[in-house]
Amino acid sequence: MFSKELIRDVQYKTSSNLQSRVGLHQQFTRINKNFWPLLASKYPWKNSKEILEIGCGTGIFWDTALKKLNENSCVTLTDISSGMLETTRDRIKDHRFRFSQFDIDTPNIASQFDLVIAHFMLYHSGNPKQALMSIKGMLTPEGKASLATLGDLHMKRIDDFIKSLIKENKLNYQITEQSSIDRFNESVADKLITEVFNSYEKYEIDDYLDVTDPAPLAEYCKSMMKYQALDEPFFQLLFEGLSNEIEKLGKFVIPKRVVFYIAH
Ligand SMILES: C[S@@+](CC[C@H](N)C(=O)[O-])C[C@H]1O[C@@H](n2cnc3c(N)ncnc32)[C@H](O)[C@@H]1O
Repeated sequence: MFSKELIRDVQYKTSSNLQSRVGLHQQFTRINKNFWPLLASKYPWKNSKEILEIGCGTGIFWDTALKKLNENSCVTLTDISSGMLETTRDRIKDHRFRFSQFDIDTPNIASQFDLVIAHFMLYHSGNPKQALMSIKGMLTPEGKASLATLGDLHMKRIDDFIKSLIKENKLNYQITEQSSIDRFNESVADKLITEVFNSYEKYEIDDYLDVTDPAPLAEYCKSMMKYQALDEPFFQLLFEGLSNEIEKLGKFVIPKRVVFYIAH
């Protein structure tokens, strides 16, 4: 079930849920511990004076991207959550940046941008196709949109593990089959971006988490909206299940996949 209030006022009220998830990826990713440089290396910085980022989260992308920015660029960072923007404002102290609260579903920015960035946020839109059309409408004639999302099977192993624990133990928890990511996962993005934009380049990053400590993985699961129906006794069971596999195999392996598109 889609709920903007849940997204804005619970899930992303502050940056803590997002930071716990980012922490898990930074700690245990096998190959690209930090994939931001890869994204930043493909963006058209040279021609980008006016830049808009939608759903900027904690602003982590700019740890990498700041050095790519032209001296005369102007970057508007936006997010639906005022708590997120607070974290981002504390992180980025640079005269080229502006911050503003903004909802992609009620776009009220009249300016045109050379580059519009939307990383891992279009699945939170009430209408991802309309959101893409709004983004296209905010581009200058030569402007580009950079759109990142997750593969259809990204982190699915942990979903499967949780479902099998529920089944094996004959528990009564109801887990929603559809994750919010499915609203704009890779296969949806392939289709909608083709429908809305004239052309695009696509980049794919396949990787794994090799988790050797069950605690941050259990915390990650607690931070996810789709596991809201689970309670402390279940998370204890999950912790034990993860610990057993890590003890037996040395690690709990989770395939993951990120894709990004530069569209125009
Ligand atoms: C998964 S986080 C990604 C944050 C950041 N782009 C990153 O990659 O680290 C999704 C972000 O989108 C924001 N968001 C959710 N719905 C939004 C909307 N309708 N309009 C603008 N931002 C939104 C959330 O507050 C959150 O900061």
